Amino acid sequence: MDPNSPIIRLQGVNKSFGTFKVLQNVDLEIRSGETLVIIGRSGVGKSTILRHMAGLVAPDSGEVWVEGQDVARLSEGGLNELRKKMGVVFQYAALFDSLTVFENIAFRLLRDFQMSRSKALEVVKQKLELVGLKDDLVDLKPAQLSGGMRKRVGLARAIAADPEIILYDEPTSGLDPVTSDAINDLILDMQKKLKVTSVVVTHDMHSAYKVANRIAMIYDGKIIGIGTPGEIQDSRDPYIHQFVTGSVNGPMPVR
Ligand SMILES: Nc1ncnc2c1ncn2[C@@H]1O[C@H](COP(=O)(O)OP(=O)(O)O)[C@@H](O)[C@H]1O
Ligand SMILES: [Mg+2]
Repeated sequence: MDPNSPIIRLQGVNKSFGTFKVLQNVDLEIRSGETLVIIGRSGVGKSTILRHMAGLVAPDSGEVWVEGQDVARLSEGGLNELRKKMGVVFQYAALFDSLTVFENIAFRLLRDFQMSRSKALEVVKQKLELVGLKDDLVDLKPAQLSGGMRKRVGLARAIAADPEIILYDEPTSGLDPVTSDAINDLILDMQKKLKVTSVVVTHDMHSAYKVANRIAMIYDGKIIGIGTPGEIQDSRDPYIHQFVTGSVNGPMPVR
């Protein structure tokens, strides 16, 4: 693979659910090692874009390329291999309530990587430390953890198998500002320590500015702007301007 080619590329992606056209001709390239943040209001298609990258949804038309492979053409086995290189941090952490912290984080190590339990325990403890949690949490259940701790466990699970790509869906939603900022620091940390490529979906501009190399704004299923945080902040597009300045009084400008 050409090292300069993007690690993830969406090309002319269209996706409808029923008669509702969620994504319209989306083109997006993510470069190796960058953190791209996708912003936009609720319901504009941010999670749907992320789910295409993870191969969880297939486009109606257009192509999704990840690490030089056309995701829609991969066999089940090929897709599983690709998913081994990806870590996904789902919204609301999405931990298995009946499993312990160890079992949650080690889930794929045991199932997809056939790792022994003792080796997995070693890895789990190391990942817990990386996300700033004590390793004596391993036997607790998610219900015994705070919201911020659950997010950290979700992140530890995503990085358990040393992914090359981490996809984050609203990693700070539902958290207080201090805990949100700790998660932002962790995202930056992962990028520095693990040299991963990250795609972060959020509607939190503070978080976007803090972690992004580039920001893409989605509106009505289309990418209406993409650039560095500075470029997005200075955008003259009235819609982008209104979103990033948070001036939500009055109707959104008509495009
Ligand atoms: N599996 C699905 N089935 C039907 N509608 C869906 C599905 N996934 C998403 N949608 C709809 O697509 C739109 C965009 O969803 P989503 O990508 O989750 O938006 P966002 O993450 O920006 O809030 C929403 O209106 C949502 O209801
Ligand atoms: Mg979403």
